[in-house]
Amino acid sequence: MTNPQAQTTVETLRWRSERLELIDQRVLPAQIECVACDSAASVAQAIRDMVVRGAPAIGCAAAYGVALEALRHRDAGVEPFRAAMAQAFEVLAASRPTAVNLFWALARMRSLIRQSAELLPPELADALLALAHEILAEDVRINRAMGAHGAALLADGARVLTHCNAGALATGGHGTALGVIRSAVEAGKRIQVIADETRPFLQGARLTAWEMVQEQIPVTLITDNMAGFLMSLGEVDAVIVGADRVAANGDVANKIGTYMVAVLARRHGIPFYVACPLSTIDLTIADGGAIPIEERAAAEVTGFRECQWAAHGVKVRNPAFDVTPADLVTALITERGVIHCPDTQAISAVMAERPAA
Ligand code: MRU
Repeated sequence: MTNPQAQTTVETLRWRSERLELIDQRVLPAQIECVACDSAASVAQAIRDMVVRGAPAIGCAAAYGVALEALRHRDAGVEPFRAAMAQAFEVLAASRPTAVNLFWALARMRSLIRQSAELLPPELADALLALAHEILAEDVRINRAMGAHGAALLADGARVLTHCNAGALATGGHGTALGVIRSAVEAGKRIQVIADETRPFLQGARLTAWEMVQEQIPVTLITDNMAGFLMSLGEVDAVIVGADRVAANGDVANKIGTYMVAVLARRHGIPFYVACPLSTIDLTIADGGAIPIEERAAAEVTGFRECQWAAHGVKVRNPAFDVTPADLVTALITERGVIHCPDTQAISAVMAERPAA
């Protein structure tokens, strides 16, 4: 089987020896290790535990989770196969609630099953695996298209702040927000990245900074509470982030802290861009208020790994995402082009052009 990620530097997901290998994002950059998954349940667990994270990467992993379960039950007979598949969809859908790419990928896998009533389990399992490979390869193509559109928005020499990790590690390869930066660099622009640390899971410090250092793209790491000060000093020219779900009106759910950055950017007259594939736009949700926001374990806030620094028993809130209202978003960068001042009308016009999945 060819490797759809051949052109990218980081292999977030890899199909090898009939298993899905995931680079373990919990231990990066100190250790570069893989977790191998051989069932839908093990993929769901990897998503829940943040071995794999980032909306498009979660979608790709979920597609492989369905394929793995189909392969496991390919010789089981039609009824047990169907029951196993129903269970697989259920367990994967329950893994994380906010990133809509997960549900989008599951819908594509389910739709293939519906359209393939004539196939026996072994043939259907092969077809599902082929679709999982295609979803992964397509993600890289989409990120490259977004990169090309978004790179045009960045001036040579721009200092670009990003929050969380929307890079190769969060996708099938190249990245969404970091994909725009990579494409700008490939086009010869001298971009300097400012990476927010991104408490509490430290995706910026551990993952974004690592990706940029690997590729020798200049990067400066800051803690989240430094962004406003740097903006006030005139040290930030643009903000680019990814998204986990964009509502029909353009409200953007992304990593907790994104809203704060968007407000600061508006205060300082800095453009705030969101790079998101069309699969991240959820037209069934009218506005951001209806986007389900995952609440994660208190231990992520009271400490890190084995170290606890907060008082035992303290009450904790740990929403993993927040919602940035559309009016703070300068533009959405999609594979179909840039949607300036996104609103319901502009978004539905672009979505209507989308070819059927
Ligand atoms: O909790 P995470 O690490 O899965 O959150 C990831 C983000 O919020 C990303 O910014 C988003 O998924 C876009 S990734 C291209």
